[in-house]
Amino acid sequence: MTETISFPVTRTNKTKIQDVDFENLKFGATFSDHMFVVDYKDGKWGQGEILPYDKWSFDPSMAALHYGQAIFEGQKAYRTSDGGVQIFRPLANLARFNQSAVRMSMPEISEELFVGGMTQLIQIDQDWVPKKEGSSLYIRPFMVATDEFLGVRTAEEYRFAIICSPVGQYYSEPIKVKVEKEFSRVAEGGIGNAKAAGNYAASLYPTKLAQKAGFHQLLWTDAATHSYFEESGTMNVMFLIGNTLVTPSIGSTILKGVTRDSVLTLARERGVTVEERKVSVFEIIEALKSGKLIEAFGAGTAATIAPIAMIQEDGVDYHLPPIEQRPFAAAILKDLNDIRTGKAPDRFGWMMKIV
Ligand SMILES: Cc1ncc(COP(=O)(O)O)c(C=O)c1O
Repeated sequence: MTETISFPVTRTNKTKIQDVDFENLKFGATFSDHMFVVDYKDGKWGQGEILPYDKWSFDPSMAALHYGQAIFEGQKAYRTSDGGVQIFRPLANLARFNQSAVRMSMPEISEELFVGGMTQLIQIDQDWVPKKEGSSLYIRPFMVATDEFLGVRTAEEYRFAIICSPVGQYYSEPIKVKVEKEFSRVAEGGIGNAKAAGNYAASLYPTKLAQKAGFHQLLWTDAATHSYFEESGTMNVMFLIGNTLVTPSIGSTILKGVTRDSVLTLARERGVTVEERKVSVFEIIEALKSGKLIEAFGAGTAATIAPIAMIQEDGVDYHLPPIEQRPFAAAILKDLNDIRTGKAPDRFGWMMKIV
């Protein structure tokens, strides 16, 4: 168990846990009893504390609401087969959070506040980590600018907080995706590789149109030419062509997924060749037509591994082989789940045991 840094705790006198249906969890709709909060002022972070989960009040001029200095992370804690609890790769999420902070002109945060706050919070709310297979506790660290000021400038005051939500499976079936060639979510030199709230806002309208047309998600392409794949919704995207796993390389337009890195590591362990490079839409459609594309899937914290059933490009539907004929993604998903739940050795040092 990790040594816990002790932040002051105010416990709730009214747990909500008895109202939760752990058999039917809706993503991001239920929150655990407590939250971690710390404020940044006068050039430094203050005292972190654990409080009952509750509403906040804020000034209508709060900077984040107007100019979008808002970043977040998404990660998970898992129930192990021996009844314990462990967090998946918290230091990777901390590193990405601080990269996002730098790009968004926000203050970086220490491991003590980010990982220490998360650890103590989940130890207190450990009963909220679901026991059902395939379920987990989603952890949402985030930071917002809190200046009460309407001038456009880097804010001087911030709040960092962590909230937790028990979640089940994200997609219940293999997904249908559309290659997006009209709208862009991010562009070269922008903030696509930061986990910034505005990136998600930019994705909502095109995603809504696609969902109305019957797709689960979009496959985003580069803003300049719309001919290279970037990512899909809140997932990185991967293609198995023969025995080679191909995925778009990370630049300024793609989020450096923790799941992506983990899947690539597990693929290499299985002897699969991994290529991180530019992946053209043309190449993938040709591979689909010739039957060389064996599997395609999204990889991300919320969905874990989401197999792609169909890709639509320019109005033409391309179907992938049925899920039963796709052993690779299933094997990687099992490897990941076994490490997370302690059924397999943690051979890459990914897990932080906290209970
Ligand atoms: C835009 C985007 N891409 C990729 C990912 C996958 O990243 P991770 O595996 O760290 O969850 C996410 C989710 O966090 C995301 O929001």
